[in-house]
Amino acid sequence: MHLKETIQDTQKQTSNWLKGAEENKPTAKNIEALRNILRFHEHRYYVANDPLISDFEYDQLYKMLEKFEKENPALVTKDSPTQRVGAGLIKDFPKTQHLVPMLSLENSYNEADLIDWDRKVKELSTLENVEYSIEPKFDGASISLVYENDFLVRGITRGDGEIGDDITPNIQQIKSIPLSAAFSKHHIQQIEIRGEVLLNKNNFKKYNETLIEEGLPPLANPRNAAAGSLRIKDTSIVAKRNLEGFLYHVSFVTTTGNYNKEIVHTHSDMLKLLWELGFRSPQKEMKVVKGIEDVIKVVHEFEKERDNLPYEIDGMVIKVNDLALQEKLGMTSHHPRWAIAFKFKARQATSKLLSVHFQVGRTGAVTPVAKIQPVHVGGVTVSSISIHNEDYIKEKDLQLGDSILIERSGDVIPQIVKSLPDLRNGTEQPIIFPTKCPECDQALFKPEDEAVWRCININCKAQVLERIIHFVSKDAMDIRSFGEANVRKFFEVGLINSIPSIYELDITALKKIEGFGEKSIANLQQAIEQSKNQPLHRLIYALGIRYVGETTAKTLAQKIKNIFELQDYTEESLKNLDDVGVKVAGSIFQFFQNKDNIDLLKKLDTLGVKMQNTTPVIIEGNLTGKTFVFTGTLSRLKRSEAEEMVEKNGGKILTGVSSKLHYLVIGEEAGSKLEKAKKIPGIQIISEEDFLKMLST
Ligand code: IVH
Repeated sequence: MHLKETIQDTQKQTSNWLKGAEENKPTAKNIEALRNILRFHEHRYYVANDPLISDFEYDQLYKMLEKFEKENPALVTKDSPTQRVGAGLIKDFPKTQHLVPMLSLENSYNEADLIDWDRKVKELSTLENVEYSIEPKFDGASISLVYENDFLVRGITRGDGEIGDDITPNIQQIKSIPLSAAFSKHHIQQIEIRGEVLLNKNNFKKYNETLIEEGLPPLANPRNAAAGSLRIKDTSIVAKRNLEGFLYHVSFVTTTGNYNKEIVHTHSDMLKLLWELGFRSPQKEMKVVKGIEDVIKVVHEFEKERDNLPYEIDGMVIKVNDLALQEKLGMTSHHPRWAIAFKFKARQATSKLLSVHFQVGRTGAVTPVAKIQPVHVGGVTVSSISIHNEDYIKEKDLQLGDSILIERSGDVIPQIVKSLPDLRNGTEQPIIFPTKCPECDQALFKPEDEAVWRCININCKAQVLERIIHFVSKDAMDIRSFGEANVRKFFEVGLINSIPSIYELDITALKKIEGFGEKSIANLQQAIEQSKNQPLHRLIYALGIRYVGETTAKTLAQKIKNIFELQDYTEESLKNLDDVGVKVAGSIFQFFQNKDNIDLLKKLDTLGVKMQNTTPVIIEGNLTGKTFVFTGTLSRLKRSEAEEMVEKNGGKILTGVSSKLHYLVIGEEAGSKLEKAKKIPGIQIISEEDFLKMLST
């Protein structure tokens, strides 16, 4: 069957299963058919990134399979989609030898390095022009997988290259890694595949948000998060991290007699084969070119797209495409001669820790913030950096005057990777934590199970001020002209002293403040007025309830018609909501049982702030119902402006290119997104000019 027919056929079977839920009999044949349907949809979702059914429909099918298997335990197979979960707690990770040692890659940093490497390849191969395959260098944790007789039998960390840790139960939690694959169809009996496990930027950000909400220090980069996740001893926690597995190299194969070598004779063929077998190989990202000049062009193109990719990459890997030539070139004791890494500009830099001051946050948490020697990293200048809490300072061994290594990956808040104690000269001083609140002078308190010292005086001015700053902030009530600087100024002169006072601002008094002309006052008034109609989830988030981030605020808002309904929720009923754990439920419960908080909400209500949930308004415009992605450098608009224009005209921005996309708008030097879009029928590729015309017609 052709691919398209297979898709349509599976889709038909899917809807039959969903429709005839009751009639479907749990026969062995039926159960396996259902497993195959689920595997197909997992592949569409986790590997191809292009789902054909909703999460709800997937869950229905999954629950059906779970029920059938529970009723017929003898019919459960070890590669059933239900078998990913359930391994539970892992005692230890046994040391295991890789079938072939995991070598590293030679690094290159500029064009001259690449030209030099190409020269060596040409010399050794006696070819004039070599074909190269280029793919991203994924910034994650390296792993090797072993499949035997089609089943995943082992997943191992890199370790020292020879011996790693067997982390199979955790690897089984990664939905883009198949538990079984049809290698036997290609007469492969045993195969070792190399790859990288990573956390995409979005999941990394979400994960860090949960850490911050819990008062824990966030991680510096997705690589650390992935490596750490693979070593967790509770598989259910690993499953929740949403790790992804990219597989890019076959290091070892044993075959049965009929193995047909002809099907795979280049690296790009291998990536395609892995993809067809259900693996997330970089088949779509890969480019094949002849000669190093084109390689150089491609790596530069890709570097420009780096920030638009959903995952972190720290460079590109260039590989000799012909596998026979790879074999001929062989390896040194450290790395293969047939591949080289081209490293992108570092997002790490060294600096000096100059001083530390202690900030009191809206929940009373006292956070040490380090002033550092300003340094340019990841496109911004960093001059201060949070060092989170006492444990963090100890763990990173930080002292005043230390040299430090900092990192800013993607759009993540910069973090200290480590201190460099070897560079100390004896003048460094320990960082001493205060025992009293630096703002209100009351004694600080540290709950037993927490890492954070707190000021528990809820009237502490610093906390009140921070709560107001949070309330008006962009992701909360988004009172545009207010901004942190203005809140501080108004608070200082006594114009505001609480959240409700924002809506009672004395305009005449405002006129007396320097820098406030009629226009800025009118803007401010308008922004305050508009904020009264913000969607309910924003108000919930704006209240600054501990552990309630934007996601939890949305979950809560979806359940209610009016914010006061949350007074009737018990801790138990809150725990039943998606992603609401014991701590979060406790915090929400306490907030809505506290009379002061309810009084605050009542006051906001009388001041005209909307307390009800209303259905979102669908914006009608030229672009209603249409989806857009922008790629490359636009010449007339900033990307953020263009995206805003889409939304204002009723359209929607997607994060990546998939069959759901209607328009890809390309600027100069559009890269991988354009290539991907060309392969998907139905996507219209248009220029910036075309886009602007669409808006004006
Ligand atoms: S090929 C025998 N391809 O980078 C050669 N490695 O710094 C196998 N990496 O050890 C490596 N993306 O962990 C290869 N597309 C890619 C990669 C990649 C990331 C990692 C890998 C390697 C390290 C070297």
